[in-house]
Amino acid sequence: MQVSRQQIVSNLIKSCNVPSKAKASAFAPTNIALCKYWGKRNAELNLPYTSSLSISLGHLGACTKVGLFEGVIDQVSLNKQPISENTVFYKRIVEFLNLFRPTSDTVFSVETQTNIPIAAGLASSACGFAAMVKALNELFAWELNQQQLSILARLGSGSACRSMWDGFVQWDAGVNDDGMDSYAHLVEHRWPELRLGLLLVDDRQKLVSSREAMQASVDTSPFYKLWPQTVAEAIMGTNRAIAERDFWTLGSIAEANALAMHSLMLSTTPPIIYAQALTLDYMRQVWRARAEGLSVFFTQDAGPNLKLLFLHKDEAKLQEHFSKIEIVAPFATIEQPMECSYDY
Ligand code: PMV
Repeated sequence: MQVSRQQIVSNLIKSCNVPSKAKASAFAPTNIALCKYWGKRNAELNLPYTSSLSISLGHLGACTKVGLFEGVIDQVSLNKQPISENTVFYKRIVEFLNLFRPTSDTVFSVETQTNIPIAAGLASSACGFAAMVKALNELFAWELNQQQLSILARLGSGSACRSMWDGFVQWDAGVNDDGMDSYAHLVEHRWPELRLGLLLVDDRQKLVSSREAMQASVDTSPFYKLWPQTVAEAIMGTNRAIAERDFWTLGSIAEANALAMHSLMLSTTPPIIYAQALTLDYMRQVWRARAEGLSVFFTQDAGPNLKLLFLHKDEAKLQEHFSKIEIVAPFATIEQPMECSYDY
């Protein structure tokens, strides 16, 4: 039986739906998958075929303020710029807010600010939906735990369910039709020396969304049937590498997993290629640096930009190889990192 998103929300939120304050805000970090989520078994509930494992980017993410608004339509802004109601972005947010309106005439205002460097080319939907769910939890005093919030964030965007925690996070695919067993959890180990380097290739809006691209891969790639086993092994190996602080294994698995995901797209009909010429140049530079003895690996999401993985001790050398790299220390700043406390 097909369960609707509204049913999931009604199951989780049983408390009285009167806002406990005028506005509430919350921060959530963005995350980069080391073992990717690619393909849904249920598109309505964003239920994946496989589990996935990510690292949150500490202080880089979104602060979202949500409140009730005395107007006719929801107000949405991103980095202080009002978003037009005709955009896909606006429609996606309003469709999500529809799940939480106490009455049909409730109108919301949603202000999101991100501190992701514009030049980093990182998607903000994961941290945006996670921060919005956390803020709504505050606004309505639902008192949901992180696991329940992770389920709600997943309804907005799959990868958002992993942005509920800092550090390493695993999203268990689950098997139930209603997805109540499909949420993320913290992977306890920390790795303060780990670094991520963001290499921008192009920060323009991509032409094919990850939602469309993953569905096309599921539907047409002859290799999709190999993907569940590939990711399961990658997650097992990554967990082991994290526990043993075995950077070479962690990096090798992450790079291979990203390339496997992109090979699903190459074998999709029609093919989907996010890489640009500069993406491939950067890949070759990473391989060359590695051949020269530097421990550096890359991962790539549904876009042309690369994210490099390396350790603190190699930071200076990395900067010599890649002068435009933006370095993030995911475990460095975990405390409320953005100015994000608009409690009225
Ligand atoms: O959550 P979505 O729909 O933005 O999909 C994310 C897909 C990847 O970023 C490519 C992989 C992942 O696990 O984050």
